[in-house]
Amino acid sequence: MEENVLEIENLSKSYGKVKAVSGLSLTISKGQVFGLLGPNGSGKTTTLGIVLGATLPQSGDFRWFGKSLSSKSLKRIGAILEHPNFYPYLSATDNLRIIAQIRNVQESDTDRVLRMTGLFDRRKHHFQTYSFGMKQRLAIASAMLGNPEVLILDEPTNGLDPGGIAEIRDLITHIASEGATIVLASHLLDEVQKVCSHVAVLQRGEKLFSGNVEEVLSNTETLLIASDDLIKLEQAIINYPDYLSHTINNGIIELKTNGVCHPDQVNQYLSNQDIFCSHLSLRRKTLESYFLELTGSKSASSSK
Ligand SMILES: Nc1ncnc2c1ncn2[C@@H]1O[C@H](COP(=O)(O)OP(=O)(O)OP(=O)(O)O)[C@@H](O)[C@H]1O
Ligand SMILES: [Mg+2]
Repeated sequence: MEENVLEIENLSKSYGKVKAVSGLSLTISKGQVFGLLGPNGSGKTTTLGIVLGATLPQSGDFRWFGKSLSSKSLKRIGAILEHPNFYPYLSATDNLRIIAQIRNVQESDTDRVLRMTGLFDRRKHHFQTYSFGMKQRLAIASAMLGNPEVLILDEPTNGLDPGGIAEIRDLITHIASEGATIVLASHLLDEVQKVCSHVAVLQRGEKLFSGNVEEVLSNTETLLIASDDLIKLEQAIINYPDYLSHTINNGIIELKTNGVCHPDQVNQYLSNQDIFCSHLSLRRKTLESYFLELTGSKSASSSK
């Protein structure tokens, strides 16, 4: 059975007239890489602040590992919210040692997290000499101290160049492969699509939808098909057992099926009727275009 790590029920938080979080419910299960996706100001950081006990909600409830938040459950969670603070004149190792002491984690764990984040060779250098990307990795390293079961990352790739983004992405995937549950807030659709197994899309504090990223994407697949005899092809397509709908553009039929698209099955089906494709390809919308379609919002793709 799936074990629930975090359950959020009907959570709301307003700042004056601004509804930062509005009736939000979601469930995060063990082993998921869960993306909280939404444009700037959609309530991601507020939500994470609430479930970490840093912000009080007006209403609603949440449970970690089936229980209300306690110092015991907090020990099972590692988090970075927005800007982590480190001492500029101390090395990475010394910064992590201080955090390890505060958290009651064995100091020897600092080497493990430094290795995992690729900072081991630079561990003795002062924090202030680190590049932006290295600082970001050190923040993730600090959250990983004590090997928490859950890692909460708020915009971990903010401000990084494409190489740095790819490094952090690989790191998150690696941490997830070791069994941790990861909650990742991001306004970058591409990031969520590449890293997350599950997603909840927020807009103005409300959840638009949530689900398995693969399932969300498979709903957005279409098959592009062309053949010499377009009329015969269209007739056959309409009779395809999983047919849902189709359009024709420039002599190419765009087919939507019920459930997952299977190009091989469509190909077989057509060739059985002596229809041979001059073109057959699967088109999958990105989460971004799907998201924009859903929200009708252009601001969703804007970066900080
Ligand atoms: N301490 C606060 N005081 C007043 N308003 C706040 C406060 N914190 C958040 N808000 C407001 O709540 C809304 C949600 O903010 P939040 O920081 O949760 O969004 P976000 O999704 O994390 O955005 P971003 O992508 O920019 O980080 C915004 O309109 C913000 O201005
Ligand atoms: Mg935020």
